[in-house]
This record gives sequence, C-alpha cells and structure tokens, in this order.
Amino acid sequence: MLAALRAGTPEHHHAVERVLDLPGRVRDRRDLVIVLDAMLAAWQPVEERLATAYDWGRLGLDPRLGAAADLLRADLALLADDPPAGRGPAPGDLPALGGAAAAVGGRYVLVGSALGGRVIAPVIERRLGLPEGRGTGFFRRAGRTPDADWRAFRTAVDRRAWSAPERAEAVRAARETFAVIARTAAAAFAARPTTARPRAR
Ligand code: HEM
Repeated sequence: MLAALRAGTPEHHHAVERVLDLPGRVRDRRDLVIVLDAMLAAWQPVEERLATAYDWGRLGLDPRLGAAADLLRADLALLADDPPAGRGPAPGDLPALGGAAAAVGGRYVLVGSALGGRVIAPVIERRLGLPEGRGTGFFRRAGRTPDADWRAFRTAVDRRAWSAPERAEAVRAARETFAVIARTAAAAFAARPTTARPRAR
C-alpha cells in the first residue's frame, strides 16, 4: 500500500511544493504568518474530516495521528497579535475519505508531510532570526513524535492486505488531499501575496 501511495503521488507532492515554495517564499515575519495561515486554512478541515471519516481503531491507530493544526495556531499566536483567518475549502471541496483505503490515503499525506518540514524550519529560523521552534513549531512538529508516528502508520498499514482496487482508492484519496491543500494555499496566496517573487519555473 505505501509503495502504491509513494508511486502514485510524486506529481501531486511536487505541485504542492511548487505552490508553497518553501522556504524561499518566506522572507520576513509577515510572509511566515501568511504561509502558516494558508496551511491552517487547508489543514484544519482535512484533519477534522480525517479524524471522523473512519474508525481508526480498526487499524489500531489514533484518529488524530499526526494532527498538527494546533501547532499552526500556536505558531500564529506567537507571531501575530491578530492572525488573519484564511478561508478553507468548502466541505464539498474536500476529498471523500470514508472507508479504510481512502482514509489511509488521506492520512498518508498528513503524516508524511512532517518529513519535509524539518528541512524547511532551520532555514526559515536563520533567515528571520528566530530561535529554534519559534513560529516553526508546525514545521518541526515541536513536542510531537513525527518519526514514531510515521512508523506507527506504516506498521498499521502493512499489517493488513490491500486489494488492487483498495490501493487505487487510497491513491485517489491521497492525490485529492494533496490537491485540496495546494488549491487552498494558492487561493490564500492570491488573496494575500508574500513579498518574495515566485521562483522561476
Ligand atoms: C515546500 C514544501 C515541502 C517540501 C520542501 C517537502 C519536502 C519533502 C521531503 C524532502 C520529503 C522526503 C523526506 C524523507 O524521505 O525523509 C517529503 C516527504 C513527504 N512529503 Fe513533503 N514537502 C513539502 C510539503 C509537503 C506537504 C504540504 C505535504 C502534504 C500536503 C507533503 C507530504 C509529504 C509526504 C506524504 C511525504 C512522504 C513520501 C513518502 O516517503 O512516501 N509534503 N517531503
């Protein structure tokens, strides 16, 4: 299953990376607030839907494994007195994540996203002169256990056999999850541009 998810989503990962353009997009604190706000607008509804879309106990997993919207809120509260409240996707724009396979596809995107954040956080901290973890708690998954979460997710998913249609359904859900996050972030940046010029593509 994880091999199928990895093989089925690199273009979607690249698309979200292009939209976010991190760490390059963040040149000052205001940029960081805009980025975190965009992430929160995307993250929170997906996280909420994922927690209740499936009975995670059947896979032996916490329904909130890897949840991180609270870290985004904490970062925003540290950086801005009055953080903007970006608009998230409408419920109808969220992917269908019901059923084991779709739920696993969506969870893959959220749990896996912690892997890139650790590369991004130190660059942003250096550039903005921020102490480690200040305003970058989400990227660092500060106080969390992202490696253990990733292992727990892999182990739980590998323990079960998945049919080819189930693998396809998981890839569909993962692609749509990447896509809704990219769309939400793109809309947020269009409404409130960051200072950095988008990098040439
Ligand atoms: C510009 C932002 C991003 C960068 C630079 C980035 C970078 C990376 C890197 C370097 C890895 C591999 C880490 C490793 O193998 O140890 C990774 C994995 C991953 N990232 Fe990102 N990422 C970014 C944004 C995101 C976002 C927003 C999501 C989710 C919406 C995401 C989802 C994932 C997933 C699911 C994996 C695991 C892939 C696998 O091993 O199967 N990434 N990312």
